[in-house]
Amino acid sequence: MNYIVCAEDISKSYGSILAVDKVSFTVREGEFFSLLGPSGCGKTTILRILGGFIEQDGGTVSIDGKDMKGIPPNRRDTAMVFQNLALFPHMDVRENIVYGLRKRKFPADRIREELNSILEIVDLKGFETRRISELSGGQQQRVALARSLIVKPKILLLDEPLASLDKKLRVSMQGELKEIQKRIGTTFLYVTHDQGEALTMSDNIAVMNKGVIIQMGTPDSIYNCPWNIFTADFIGAGNFIPVISVEKENHMFVLKTEDRGRIFLRDDFKKDCRDFPGVKKIQGPESSGVKDKTALPVFFIRPEKIKITTKPQRNKNLFNGKVKAIIFEGPDIRLEVVSNTLGKIKIEVKNDGSLPGLKENDNLLFHWDYIDGILLEY
Ligand SMILES: Nc1ncnc2c1ncn2[C@@H]1O[C@H](COP(=O)(O)OP(=O)(O)OP(=O)(O)O)[C@@H](O)[C@H]1O
Ligand SMILES: [Mg+2]
Repeated sequence: MNYIVCAEDISKSYGSILAVDKVSFTVREGEFFSLLGPSGCGKTTILRILGGFIEQDGGTVSIDGKDMKGIPPNRRDTAMVFQNLALFPHMDVRENIVYGLRKRKFPADRIREELNSILEIVDLKGFETRRISELSGGQQQRVALARSLIVKPKILLLDEPLASLDKKLRVSMQGELKEIQKRIGTTFLYVTHDQGEALTMSDNIAVMNKGVIIQMGTPDSIYNCPWNIFTADFIGAGNFIPVISVEKENHMFVLKTEDRGRIFLRDDFKKDCRDFPGVKKIQGPESSGVKDKTALPVFFIRPEKIKITTKPQRNKNLFNGKVKAIIFEGPDIRLEVVSNTLGKIKIEVKNDGSLPGLKENDNLLFHWDYIDGILLEY
């Protein structure tokens, strides 16, 4: 299997701060790979190491099979889009975009050709002579993208490039970026702390916390099969129900809650949770810095897996509860429910008219399938 990026055991400290701790990952050619994690977890540090702006203290980075040790940024097949975009305000759009080609002493006709083709790709035709200050945030973002892509890097490193845009523009730029990436086939290594952004754009995601990668996989596997509480909590919403005992009965786990609730969970609940292919080393939850060895296992279930019902359901986990809040979110309706045996439960249903007329303090029945949910840290 050919990987265009191979990072093995890379570490980096700033004085006494261990910013990146033995991180390993691989990226395939043409892949959209995201590093996702909270502020300060080491994402930018990894990107800068890959781009050659800083050197790791330990471990190796190879790009296209070549060890990058001692290779400066301008001699790597990478280009970087910085979070603040770092455009030249005194130059117009054209001069910003062709900057890299001028520095590389490309002939004028070649520059014109490349400029035309890149303007087409990022949809900025007609904006060549605008000043940067005369552009919207999204247009500036596209100039930054064009400026990096025009030098035809094999790998584009993007450090939270959409963070400064408002929500609506950010969502539309996510689509555009993904579309451009697919069209030109360049490998994208994308850094974000926005889980929605990572889920919608990426082929694969590495979830980071405190300098280590704690899970890697497709958006689907990260969302549906979190390996630990951190990933489950960081990505999307969920119910975390502490469990005081776990027993096995035939092909079923029987989980008991503090308040004498019983949850059945099929013992093959992790059958769809495949490991990230091609990763040689991956830090388990033990090294994620979030596992407390004395902690009880936790049963985790997404709010949209829980259904509301008016009649008892056979062969399902069935509970009753009282509605504490009904939150209208347009396409979805969120319910906050309190159950005597499970505690507070979040339920999400589609706003498709199927919700029986409920109001606060009403009692209701809710259920989920035995295969749904995950036992974490167990
Ligand atoms: N030049 C530096 N000197 C000292 N400490 C640094 C330096 N750069 C980063 N750090 C520290 O290293 C850790 C990782 O920083 P990094 O910038 O890689 O995080 P990040 O995941 O990109 O965060 P953010 O989402 O806020 O951009 C942080 O604790 C940060 O304070
Ligand atoms: Mg950063």
